[in-house]
Amino acid sequence: MNTTNFILKERTGLKVTFKNVTMSYDGKKDTLKNLNFTIPDGTLVSLLGPSGGGKTTTLNLISGLLTPTSGQIFFGDEDVTKKDALGRKVGMVFQNYALYPHLTVLDNIAFPLKMAKVAKAERHKRARELAALVHVEDQLDKKPGELSGGQQQRVAIARALAKSPSLLLLDEPLSNLDARLRIEMREEIRRIQRETGVTTIFVTHDQDEALHISDNIMVLSFGSIQQFSSPTALYERPNNLFVAKFIGEPVINAVPADTLVDDLKGIVPDEILERAETAGIRSEALIPYDAGDAVLAKLSGTITQSKKYGREATAEITYHDQVLLSTEMAGSPTSEAETEFYLTKPGFFLFDDAGVLIYGGESHAQ
Ligand SMILES: Nc1ncnc2c1ncn2[C@@H]1O[C@H](COP(=O)(O)OP(=O)(O)O)[C@@H](O)[C@H]1O
Ligand SMILES: [Mg+2]
Repeated sequence: MNTTNFILKERTGLKVTFKNVTMSYDGKKDTLKNLNFTIPDGTLVSLLGPSGGGKTTTLNLISGLLTPTSGQIFFGDEDVTKKDALGRKVGMVFQNYALYPHLTVLDNIAFPLKMAKVAKAERHKRARELAALVHVEDQLDKKPGELSGGQQQRVAIARALAKSPSLLLLDEPLSNLDARLRIEMREEIRRIQRETGVTTIFVTHDQDEALHISDNIMVLSFGSIQQFSSPTALYERPNNLFVAKFIGEPVINAVPADTLVDDLKGIVPDEILERAETAGIRSEALIPYDAGDAVLAKLSGTITQSKKYGREATAEITYHDQVLLSTEMAGSPTSEAETEFYLTKPGFFLFDDAGVLIYGGESHAQ
């Protein structure tokens, strides 16, 4: 099967650069504030953030459906800021599949080529190859209404790839699918991206989805980039409290830094303890045994609740006036008695009053 070769041969994967891009819909409020980033060629990047954070606006600026209020957008070295969507040659897939209901799967996939006046034999050949790539080659004569949601989204992806775009843009493409299918389809999008090598930008509000498929994740909120890094870096070294809380399941324990001050004196520099406003503690950073070098401090509290569902087990530790969740201490007997436990360096962070990381993560080798 030479599907992949066919697509690779035609592709011109592109990097995308935003330079000081600001976007205002009404000329008053900035929906996107001075975005600067580069998405490397051939990678899969997720735009992740809560609803209203500016993900779709960013994607539409990349596609050319929107023009920035100020700043520049580059594809490779070319300034495309003034180019419209047609001129930019991007493939797009939306949450609602938007297939043509009266056309067969084959004709849906071939449709962009028909518009581009590609001869019938040639466009059908290409459509068949794309159908094989997305695994709907046995559905070619069906109408979209006869397909499952996942199959429809496969067809939508094939159609978006028909004209060998340099960029594939997907705006929450899996939101309408049930949980199991979403997991299957996210793996499929990853596979298709790898096989084609097309630079892919994937919008989602689901951190789990983003963590599983992306080379890099851009966390967007309040119209600004909160962090743009690898999934591992987002988790192990969040730039700020917003990212720390947004990434990770269970949600990170966030407590006033004052709670820990007495236990961290002499361990964390005084200057940092004075500036620290909030402590972030991942649930796996609270452990029942002394793990040696990985340990930051020994603490003491009472285990007030212990729960288990499926593979997941959690314990609640009351520490001073706070309740901390641990995923490492389930099974510990609950009692009123004080118990000693340990706080590890990985998964412990301090943030200042602006929410900026001032301690923890790999930057602090101590
Ligand atoms: N066409 C539009 N006109 C005016 N405001 C808009 C328009 N589209 C989006 N917005 C606003 O811009 C902000 C970002 O929206 P959007 O980019 O759709 O976020 P997301 O995709 O992250 O949910 C929101 O406050 C939204 O209300
Ligand atoms: Mg959106």
